[in-house]
Amino acid sequence: MRHKLVIGNWKMNGNRAANTALLSGIVAGLNDFGADCAVCVPAPYLAQCQAELAGTPVAWGGQDVSIHADGAYTGEVSAAMLRDFGATYVLCGHSERRAYHHESNELVAQKTVAALAAGLTPVVCVGESLAQREAGQTEDVICGQLQAVLDALPADDVAKIILAYEPVWAIGTGQTATPQIAQDAHGFLRNCVASKNAAAAATVQILYGGSMKPENAKELMAQPDIDGGLIGGAALKSTDFLGIIQAV
Ligand code: G3P
Repeated sequence: MRHKLVIGNWKMNGNRAANTALLSGIVAGLNDFGADCAVCVPAPYLAQCQAELAGTPVAWGGQDVSIHADGAYTGEVSAAMLRDFGATYVLCGHSERRAYHHESNELVAQKTVAALAAGLTPVVCVGESLAQREAGQTEDVICGQLQAVLDALPADDVAKIILAYEPVWAIGTGQTATPQIAQDAHGFLRNCVASKNAAAAATVQILYGGSMKPENAKELMAQPDIDGGLIGGAALKSTDFLGIIQAV
């Protein structure tokens, strides 16, 4: 039985005062829900998460990681630095990184390897654009994105990653994937994992992301291969974020 996990991706939002209000609202509202929960925050706010979330059930993480361990890479943040501030998770290959920073499948795979090497849990994001879906390329695209990561990992490490299926057309648009569309993609991804490590396929968590809200979370998370959510907009308001966690 896989545990449910809900991660808030704050993207490039927040400030110290707003973060404190958001984090304390989440912590205060968390009860005995059946999901684990985390926030992935801009790097400057990792220290704030460490100070305000240590000892609570809420974990935290980064939104991107360098493939390098250290050195002359201005602007980059290493996996060890994220660990230094208590991060558990890091997003790898979010569609906004792929689109705006030209991250290739191979680079995302290297980031996944770097995260694992430092003891972080990488959340590897995959998803097709609307044009790709309409051209019938969804499975080819998400399989290609995942396969690059699988190729870069020893079979044993496959069980240490988390996947997130985030169809680009559903991100920030209010156009949530139907539970069936999401389930089909999640089931397909799980089968791809099985081709590398059958045991890992049964345990790997696959999160759905793309306009998930309290109103649609229950039906999505009831699907057999959906193990939680990666939440953007609705993670910026504690009541919405808690509403999603509560839907598990
Ligand atoms: O990583 C989460 C994300 O891309 C989904 O964003 O705003 O559609 O929930 P949103």
